[in-house]
Amino acid sequence: MRPTIAEVDLDALSYNYNQLRGIVGKDVAAAPVIKADAYGHGAVRVSARLEKEGADMFIVAFVEEGIELREAGIKTPILIAGAFLPEDAAHIIRWNLTPVVFTISQVDALDSSAKRFDRRINVHIKVDTGMGRLGLAPEDLAGFAGEIMRRKNIVTEGIMTHFAQADIEDNEFAIRQLNVFNGVLGELRRKGINPPVIHAANSAAIICLKESHFNMVRPGLMLYGVFPIDKKWDISLKPVMSLRSKVVQVKRVPEGSSVGYAKSFIAGRESLIATIPIGYADGYSRRLSNSGNVIIKGKKAPVAGNVCMDMTMVDVTDHQGVCVGDDVILIGQQGDELIAAEDLARLTGTIPYEILSCIGKRVPRVYRG
Ligand SMILES: Cc1ncc(COP(=O)(O)O)c(C=O)c1O
Repeated sequence: MRPTIAEVDLDALSYNYNQLRGIVGKDVAAAPVIKADAYGHGAVRVSARLEKEGADMFIVAFVEEGIELREAGIKTPILIAGAFLPEDAAHIIRWNLTPVVFTISQVDALDSSAKRFDRRINVHIKVDTGMGRLGLAPEDLAGFAGEIMRRKNIVTEGIMTHFAQADIEDNEFAIRQLNVFNGVLGELRRKGINPPVIHAANSAAIICLKESHFNMVRPGLMLYGVFPIDKKWDISLKPVMSLRSKVVQVKRVPEGSSVGYAKSFIAGRESLIATIPIGYADGYSRRLSNSGNVIIKGKKAPVAGNVCMDMTMVDVTDHQGVCVGDDVILIGQQGDELIAAEDLARLTGTIPYEILSCIGKRVPRVYRG
């Protein structure tokens, strides 16, 4: 009954997916990244839509994220791109997930579990070409791939790496990573090891570094309608999520009175303050205190005072006739005014990924399209 919702426009998601398909062409597979509940958009609904659009594989971070999709009836291959521990091997096999591997203990656990299930399992090997997170050192790759070939129940379906910095205009470091990756692919080929699926590109690399597409790409942010790099592009994307609420109280406060915890807003004139039922526990950051804006009646209204756990107050003194029940846009567009996830990220010193994926579970997702 709470009027605060995150509206997810599935047609915008399809539009962005088709923009992606246009960029990479028909010979490159698309593996949408839907970890972290599809960056806060709802992994089940997002993957169901993208499965209909023909996505080739889904990427999640953890085994339980993959299981959630299988339980919801998703049939498309699911790659667990984050880490898993050897004790998770049986779940991976039972739920028909595809793990990314980079240690022998993972491979051994998968091999013996697969034997028990009387199955063969596909894996993708991860090489760390400069991210410094998961993956094998390039010089260890060939030996590791050879070890996998000795395990009867494991098939190396893919090889991957991940860029640390493809989202800045000077992509020198991404190109250096790409060169390392091409080097190890060449070394594998010379040893007769040819994993059929090769992938590296996230959204930024998809848009800016065509040579990194190989035969599969891993788009995340761009599918949700946010450009990964701050530059004008000749493709368009549509924001998929908008965050909305309604005014629950409007009150007149005299000049000099304070608003909210710690009295961080003092009215410089007689003011009209509207209260909105969304707070930092919903992912509306407390760092927006006295700095964010919302849109009411097609016009921006500044946040007045500290954002509370469940409520935010805004100054509507310069608005005409704001009433209880009026729509409030926290992320999204109304009339000519727009607040993008990128704007909130800039104001709070973070990235749009964090803004979207931290919209809380308490905020119902409402799907359109
Ligand atoms: C391994 C991997 N690939 C692809 C992506 C997608 O990145 P982006 O959302 O920038 O497209 C991520 C996201 O962090 C990732 O961890």
